[in-house]
Amino acid sequence: MTTDPFSIKRYSKLHPIRLAFNARARLIEQEAKWNFKNYALSEKIIPNLPHVPHVDWSNTAVTPLQMQNLLYALSITEHLNDTVIVEVGCYRGATTKCLASATSRKIIAVDPFIGYGGSDKDYEFFSNNISGLSNVVHERKTSGEAIKNWNYGSVSLIFIDALHDYVNTAFDIEAWSRVTTKGAVLAMHDTDQICFAGTRKAVYDAYKSMELELLAHPNNLTLLRK
Ligand SMILES: C[S@@+](CC[C@H](N)C(=O)[O-])C[C@H]1O[C@@H](n2cnc3c(N)ncnc32)[C@H](O)[C@@H]1O
Repeated sequence: MTTDPFSIKRYSKLHPIRLAFNARARLIEQEAKWNFKNYALSEKIIPNLPHVPHVDWSNTAVTPLQMQNLLYALSITEHLNDTVIVEVGCYRGATTKCLASATSRKIIAVDPFIGYGGSDKDYEFFSNNISGLSNVVHERKTSGEAIKNWNYGSVSLIFIDALHDYVNTAFDIEAWSRVTTKGAVLAMHDTDQICFAGTRKAVYDAYKSMELELLAHPNNLTLLRK
């Protein structure tokens, strides 16, 4: 079982466990950079993608093409009854709103807004974006805390877009895979940028070790099917 990187923060900065964890994380990141090309998954473009409704693109790094792919994943998992969708790392809620508006399934939006990319200001945007969407449930927790007492049932689509390094992405993929159903889609953002080499490596490792199908892969978003 992969360690939740946030659980390591309970140790003081100079505690040997925290020092060893961080040293290992840095080494993995370095190796991921060196072998960036070797961890690439092939491009896979889906034709006739769904139309994207109005989105304020200034509030998200997700591109229109990536959003179309997420909506595609949503549509092909729609038949998986009694399942929910999870977004890990919601920021200003642009994707949350887009997905929630396109389904009646529940979206569990996981984001602690404690720094690490999400501030109180971003939380305000997020709250405004999801207001009126009765199928969105916000878990103001880290990924590891949210999965601990999970009671929302099976997950058919998970969008992992929180911290973009190896240890966090690998943890999120492994932890959330445990609550996904057969046929579920795991979508990971920022998989093709050298500055997020660890994320690409984590996705590559999961693809190989979990025998997942490469469903779609436009630039910088990888969708794998269980
Ligand atoms: C790249 S943004 C998410 C963008 C969003 N998915 C979108 O489509 O616009 C990353 C978010 O991850 C959140 N975050 C950081 N660490 C996290 C963790 N351990 N668990 C869940 N969310 C986390 C940050 O608060 C931030 O809002």
